[in-house]
Amino acid sequence: MRKNVFLISAAVAATFTFGASAQVKADAAIEYRHSVFEVIGWNFKPMAAMVKGEAPYDKEAFAKRAANVATMAPMALEGFAPGTEKGDKEKTQAKPAIWEKMDDFKGKMSKLAEESTKLAAISKTGTFDEIKKQFGATGAACKACHDDYKQK
Ligand code: HEC
Repeated sequence: MRKNVFLISAAVAATFTFGASAQVKADAAIEYRHSVFEVIGWNFKPMAAMVKGEAPYDKEAFAKRAANVATMAPMALEGFAPGTEKGDKEKTQAKPAIWEKMDDFKGKMSKLAEESTKLAAISKTGTFDEIKKQFGATGAACKACHDDYKQK
């Protein structure tokens, strides 16, 4: 009996929370997806510098950053749930096209996960030339999505 009362009040609380806060939910989602991409970007830039020869190549550091990107890549999609197109402060750079072409967007997310996983693997075992090539493929996956779905 006590248990039922608890379940009912939990259900009421949950309904209230979701019902009352679609806006809060969108803001949180925007913050979440931005954070995921900030972490990805933070790790991606030093790899780019090594690939371009602007920083000395450090195999271990590169492999660690590649692994970080591969870990984060599959986490971003969750931040683009339906109803999170716009937040309170309109601070998102996500284009509305994402929610109109969600299947294509998801495909581009999968592509990123795939290429970054390959990069993480090859950066441990491959030659620098092989690593550079796979870094290019990963960067192309970023660009393919940004071109269509991110505001400048
Ligand atoms: C499937 C689509 C997609 C892929 C793939 C993708 N991004 Fe993004 N990225 C976005 C979207 C959409 C935003 C804007 C999110 C928002 O503001 O709500 C974003 C935002 C960012 C941001 C923060 C905003 C800025 O311009 O500073 C960075 C940094 C970033 N992405 C880096 C990357 C990197 C690096 C890769 C590849 C390793 C990548 N992204 C791959 C869609 C993508």
